[in-house]
Amino acid sequence: MQAKRPAGSSGRGDKEGKAKKYPNLASLNKFHKGHRGKIALLMVLTALSGGLFLAYPFASSRIIINLTSGNFGEMLNFAAVLLGLIALNAVADYAAGYLSSVISKALFFDMRKTLVDKTISLSLSAVYEKGSGFFLERMNEDSREASNAFLSISKLVIKLAVNLTFIAYIAAVNAYLALVFLAGLTVIVFLEYFRVSRMLANMKKSKRAMEKIKSAESELLKGIKEIKGLGGREAIVAKHSGASDALLNIRKAREKIERNLSHGITLIKAAIDFAILLFVAFVLVPQGEYELAGILAVWNYKGNIYELVSSLAGIKDLFVNGELAAKRLNDILSAPENEVDRFGELQLPSAAAAVEFRDAVFGYLPGQPILKGVSFEARAPAAVGFVGRSGSGKSTIFSLLTNFYRPQGGRALINGIDVTELSEGALRGAVTPVLQDPYIFNDTVLNNIRFAKPSASDGEVFAAARKACIHDEILEMKDGYGTVIGENGATVSGGQKQRLEIARALLKDTPILLFDEATSALDKANLNKINDLLIELGKEKLVFVIAHRLAVMRRCDRVVVLDDGKIIASGTHGELMQSSAYYQELFKKSGETPTETRREER
Ligand SMILES: Nc1ncnc2c1ncn2[C@@H]1O[C@H](COP(=O)(O)OP(=O)(O)O)[C@@H](O)[C@H]1O
Ligand SMILES: [Mg+2]
Repeated sequence: MQAKRPAGSSGRGDKEGKAKKYPNLASLNKFHKGHRGKIALLMVLTALSGGLFLAYPFASSRIIINLTSGNFGEMLNFAAVLLGLIALNAVADYAAGYLSSVISKALFFDMRKTLVDKTISLSLSAVYEKGSGFFLERMNEDSREASNAFLSISKLVIKLAVNLTFIAYIAAVNAYLALVFLAGLTVIVFLEYFRVSRMLANMKKSKRAMEKIKSAESELLKGIKEIKGLGGREAIVAKHSGASDALLNIRKAREKIERNLSHGITLIKAAIDFAILLFVAFVLVPQGEYELAGILAVWNYKGNIYELVSSLAGIKDLFVNGELAAKRLNDILSAPENEVDRFGELQLPSAAAAVEFRDAVFGYLPGQPILKGVSFEARAPAAVGFVGRSGSGKSTIFSLLTNFYRPQGGRALINGIDVTELSEGALRGAVTPVLQDPYIFNDTVLNNIRFAKPSASDGEVFAAARKACIHDEILEMKDGYGTVIGENGATVSGGQKQRLEIARALLKDTPILLFDEATSALDKANLNKINDLLIELGKEKLVFVIAHRLAVMRRCDRVVVLDDGKIIASGTHGELMQSSAYYQELFKKSGETPTETRREER
């Protein structure tokens, strides 16, 4: 940041001090790289338009003097000059405005894009912990503010530099007049500075309050069904209005500060005007030592100087606000190492076929282990079932295998390579999780399935949907595959969502598939078909299955039994029914009737 030291900060104005004082703002410099030429041109235009503007008061004072002294020819000359100046100024201003909007838009989009990229690369736990408001505000408001800060500061500094030469002109007209003027300006700067400092504290609070509101709103929309269904309207409205009221109070306090001080400043300006007139009347006129044109020029132009001086105090405002916004961007952009998804560099030399857990230990929270040393091996082709009470750690095993979370002890391996050492591409090309409650994007059915493989042809999508037993139902929808399903699949049933998710996984077609209660919402007929499909897939791929209804375990090549984060048994369904009382119990409890059992046996 090359800008001038903000008003009132004493003694710490060197460049290094500046970077230290506003390190976050300085760190955003990297976004300016591609735009340096345009930024330089903008600064030249700004200086030009400022300089041209400065010529107004001179030309207009000459016009008035020539008019009053009857020099009409001269007057017209100056009028023509004034017209030319205005035209030039308009051109420079227009170009500067255009350029400025082009640059700040580009910066804003760059920053937002980088934030989005970075957010996606954050670990699940980091995202869940912070909540959506945290990200939404930063992606939108703070990146807009940060992208404008640099340009606003630079433009202001240039304008100030150009216009402060006018003070030198006043001094040339009369040194004492310049002193009167400067004394008044000092008071204005002081008041403005005071205002700005008060505002900053308020701004910080206001941003935090805004985040809470955004979070509440985003929850309100995502959870609308629960809110309606559970009669939670009052609770959620209270939460939202609590946050809203807090913001309202903060805004009210801000307006009060603004009102009080801006009236004070208006008064000071009027007082300066009065002092100037007194000075002219009682000092300059009796001495007879003044040039009317000069006085008129001062009088004509002082409004601009006031405005600029007000913004001089605002420079601190810009710096500190910019720094605040930049800091909030950096909360995401420079998220600590442990909050970012980490992948390795390794590729899989051959298609993924073998999974091994070696004494894997993991807990979401310190001191609360969920997996307490899990070891098993599985090799394609196979369908492997995972059973255990709710909370026993089945889904967590899948989360380690997808590197959503990393083991704190032991390892999870694919083809003998640690999952955490695989590149992102290698891992995502090897394993696909199929979730119980999949997210459906606010897009067409076609795009929702194709999300898993953007290069897939329509035909491939149809084939995947057919296998997932959802094709016919899609064709019956309003616009077939072109039907837009509401946000998070608001307009499709739970069973349809699950089959869309299965279609996605089939389209992705990785060698390892992890079905995590992915069939829980299916009706019997569809469940049977999908179970057939899982077993079929297990003849070619490595398929892991967690299922609420355990009938499918009978047909798995092997079943792994978990209890409290440990594997307590493993074998075929038949073996486990003999050897594991725990498994027998689970199987009975899952309510599988003998009839169903026979049907599954067929
Ligand atoms: N993101 C998370 N943060 C904290 N605890 C979690 C998280 N996810 C799961 N847990 C806890 O870990 C335990 C095991 O969860 P999970 O592996 O999902 O069990 P299962 O799939 O066998 O029902 C549960 O007690 C659950 O509450
Ligand atoms: Mg689970």
